Amino acid sequence: MSIKVFLEEKKGENSNGKNENLNEIYYEYDLPQNKISKVCEMLNCSIVNNIGKGGFSVVKLIHSNNIPYALKIISIYNKKFKNNIKNIELIKNEIKINKSLNHPNIVQFYNSYELNEFYLLQLEYMKLGDLKTIQKKYKKLSETLCGFIITNIIDALAYLHSNNILHRDIKSDNIMINEKLEIKLGDFSLSKKIDLNNKYKTSRSGTFPFLAPECVKKKQEISSKTIFKTDIFSLGIVMYNLLHNSHPFGYKNNMTITEYSKKIHEINPIFDMNLTSTCVNFLKGLLSKKIKKRFFIYDCIKHPWYIKLKEITKNIYEKNKDDFEKCLDEMQNFEVKDFMFENISTNTSEIYDDEKFIGKKEKRC
Ligand SMILES: Nc1ncnc2c1ncn2[C@@H]1O[C@H](COP(=O)(O)OP(=O)(O)O)[C@@H](O)[C@H]1O
Ligand SMILES: [Mg+2]
Repeated sequence: MSIKVFLEEKKGENSNGKNENLNEIYYEYDLPQNKISKVCEMLNCSIVNNIGKGGFSVVKLIHSNNIPYALKIISIYNKKFKNNIKNIELIKNEIKINKSLNHPNIVQFYNSYELNEFYLLQLEYMKLGDLKTIQKKYKKLSETLCGFIITNIIDALAYLHSNNILHRDIKSDNIMINEKLEIKLGDFSLSKKIDLNNKYKTSRSGTFPFLAPECVKKKQEISSKTIFKTDIFSLGIVMYNLLHNSHPFGYKNNMTITEYSKKIHEINPIFDMNLTSTCVNFLKGLLSKKIKKRFFIYDCIKHPWYIKLKEITKNIYEKNKDDFEKCLDEMQNFEVKDFMFENISTNTSEIYDDEKFIGKKEKRC
């Protein structure tokens, strides 16, 4: 199915409450009818339809002055939160971090509003939704198409980590795409500003099939600069999943965290034979269970796989950017070969400044 058809179907399902099941799913956290007109008045907008749902929110497409935006609606009474005061702190933290960010690979935040127990975040609208749209179409992504997505998210993470922000919820649902094929990281609901003078205890904050082993274990003390590697592991899970359409450590739906914790220690990922050895080397750097061996973000940016895939995907994008379906197909069909990585210089990329980042490179063991 083409992505255009998929989006049309999705729109049809959600609009005007035609699909009762979907409305039921959305109902739990949604704005009640009597607040809808209030929101339209406050934001001078019309609400078009539901476009997403997270663990903590409902996201709607709105039009304001003929410009589409995404409106993320978070209720402080969400059942998932145990304590409403802590809730408000979390939502305020999400807004504060969002306000401080400005990067081409981060979903742009425009404004926030309060309406009784609801907080509303007005965000850039990402028309193609999250990564599931692309995964539904291609099932297993080629190294090239995967490279297009992952190198863009690495740029977003380099920006965040160099500003001492840990995302803490890197996963496919939080990576979004628009019709210009811009890839952007969103959802700062669990993000944390790291104080480099502190030590940190790992926690299970995040989504557990994406958690690093040291977070699954919980409450291990690690240095402030090492904590950034927890995002890198989650990115490794996303990348492995895009390339294999499976989980590297055998996570299955409904598995408990104890079962998963066992798996993650027992299983070593198996890599698709068709991947280049440079790609496998890169993926192993992200997915290293030993935190000391795992890459920092600047190791990612200096790696030949990042450098070459940026170059390859930029060329394909430039030639096909007016037709997003064609551009994605071209990337899916382009085969990366080992010889292409010969003679790559691994000088620091100009977009990344080592010195600005979190201190010296950790000694490898
Ligand atoms: N700006 C956006 N444009 C389009 N879809 C979005 C946007 N933001 C979120 N979504 C959709 O809504 C879902 C939930 O949003 P998210 O911010 O991740 O909420 P939560 O904090 O509850 O996980 C996302 O997984 C995505 O499918
Ligand atoms: Mg989310």
